[in-house]
Amino acid sequence: MDSCSSKKPITLCLGIFLFLFLVGMAYAQLSSNFYSSSCPKLFPIIRAEIDYIVSKDKRMVASLLRLHFHDCFVNGCDASILLDDTETFNGEKTAPPNFNSLRGYDLIDTIKLQVETLCPGVVSCADILAIVARDAVVSVGGPSWSVELGRRDSTTANFSAPSTDIPAPDMNLSALTAAFAKKGFTFKEMVALTGSHTIGQARCLTFQTRINNEPNIDSQFAASLRANCSSNGDLNILFPLDTTTPMAFDNAYFKNLQSQKGLLHSDQQLFSGGYADRFVNTYSSNSTTFFSDFASAMVKMGNLNPLTGTSGEIRTNCRKINAHYVYELVCSI
Ligand code: HEM
Ligand SMILES: *[C@@H]1O[C@H](CO)[C@@H](O)[C@H](O)[C@H]1NC(C)=O
Ligand SMILES: *[C@@H]1O[C@H](CO)[C@@H](O)[C@H](O)[C@H]1NC(C)=O
Ligand SMILES: *[C@@H]1O[C@H](CO)[C@@H](O)[C@H](O)[C@H]1NC(C)=O
Ligand SMILES: *[C@@H]1O[C@H](CO)[C@@H](O)[C@H](O)[C@H]1NC(C)=O
Repeated sequence: MDSCSSKKPITLCLGIFLFLFLVGMAYAQLSSNFYSSSCPKLFPIIRAEIDYIVSKDKRMVASLLRLHFHDCFVNGCDASILLDDTETFNGEKTAPPNFNSLRGYDLIDTIKLQVETLCPGVVSCADILAIVARDAVVSVGGPSWSVELGRRDSTTANFSAPSTDIPAPDMNLSALTAAFAKKGFTFKEMVALTGSHTIGQARCLTFQTRINNEPNIDSQFAASLRANCSSNGDLNILFPLDTTTPMAFDNAYFKNLQSQKGLLHSDQQLFSGGYADRFVNTYSSNSTTFFSDFASAMVKMGNLNPLTGTSGEIRTNCRKINAHYVYELVCSI
C-alpha cells in the first residue's frame, strides 16, 4: 500500500513490533496484579456494574458467567465470543450453541466503555470477561477467587468451533466427560463447573426430550414442566436450571440431581449411577467443598490458552478488532 511504501511507516511498523515484543517479554504469564498500576480502578468499576445489574436483572449474572465459559472453551479465553460477524468472517455469536441463547454483550460494552475512559487501550476484553464471571458468582452468594489477568484479545473468531467444543445438553456422561477432558478437566472438575447451573435459566427447547421421554425424572416435576412448556407451544419459555433456589449460588443444584430434578438431560447424567455420582453426593452434602472446588476449576478454566505477550491485541471495542491491526498486516506484507 501507498503509505507503507515510503521509509517512515516501515520504521514505524518495526518500532511498533519491537515495542510490543518488549512489552510481551515483560508479561508473558497471567498474574492477579497485572493491572494494579496500569488500571487501579478496574476491579471497583466492574464490581459496581455487577452490583447494579444484579439489582435490575438477576438472571444477567448467570448469563455473564456463561459468556466466560463459552469464550474459554472455544480457542481459549480470548474474547473471540464477543466479536460481531463481519463481511470476512462469521463469528461465534450466531453458532448454534450461542445463537438466541447467550446474552450480556451490551453489559460487557458498558463496562468496557467505562474502563476505556479511565485506562485507554490497557485492559483486554478477555480479562473483563474473567473478572465479570467472578463478580457475577459473588453477587449471588457464591465463592470468590483471585482472578489471573494478562490475557489479550483474539483478532479472529471461528463460527464452527462452538459446535465442536461446547458440550450439548443431549450428551451422555461419556460424551460430556470427553468434552471436558479435551479441555484438560477431570470428572470432578466437570461436576464442579457444571454446578454453575445453580443459577440461570434454560429454554424448553433444550430439555423438551427429557420431560417427554426420560424415565429418570421426577414425575411431578416433569408434568409441571410439560404443562408450562406446551401451554402455548413456545419453546423459548424459560425455566430455572435450579428449581429450588433459582437465583442463589449454592449447592441446591446437586440436591436436585439426587431427587431426579435435573432440568437438562446433561445435568441428570451427572447423577445417573455413573462415576460422577460421588462428586454430586460430596457437593450436595458439603457446600464448602463445592465452593472451593468450583473456585479452583474456574481459575483453571480462565487459564485455557490465553493469548499473551505479542499475540492478539487489546481491543478498543470488544465487538471488533482494532483498525491498527489491519494497518500492521498491510505493512507486514
Ligand atoms: C455439562 C456441560 C454443559 C452443558 C451441556 C450446558 C448446557 C447449557 C444449556 C443448554 C443452557 C440453557 C441455554 C438456553 O436455553 O438458551 C445452559 C445455561 C447455563 N449454563 Fe450451561 N452447560 C454446561 C456446562 C456449563 C458450565 C461449565 C458453565 C459455567 C462455568 C455453565 C453455565 C451456565 C449458566 C450460568 C447458564 C444460565 C445462563 C442464563 O440464564 O442466561 N454451563 N447451559
Ligand atoms: C475452526 O474450528 C474448527 C472446529 O474446531 C476447526 O476444525 C477449524 O480448523 C477452525 N478453523 C480455523 C480457521 O481455525
Ligand atoms: C454416549 O453417546 C455417544 C455419542 O452419541 C455414543 O457413541 C455412546 O455409545 C453413548 N454411550 C453410552 C454409555 O450410552
Ligand atoms: C407451571 O405453571 C403453573 C401455573 O400455570 C405454576 O403453578 C407452576 O409452578 C409452573 N411450573 C414450573 C415448573 O414452573
Ligand atoms: C466439608 O468439607 C471440609 C473440607 O473439605 C471439611 O473441613 C468440613 O468439615 C466439611 N463440612 C461438613 C459439614 O461436613
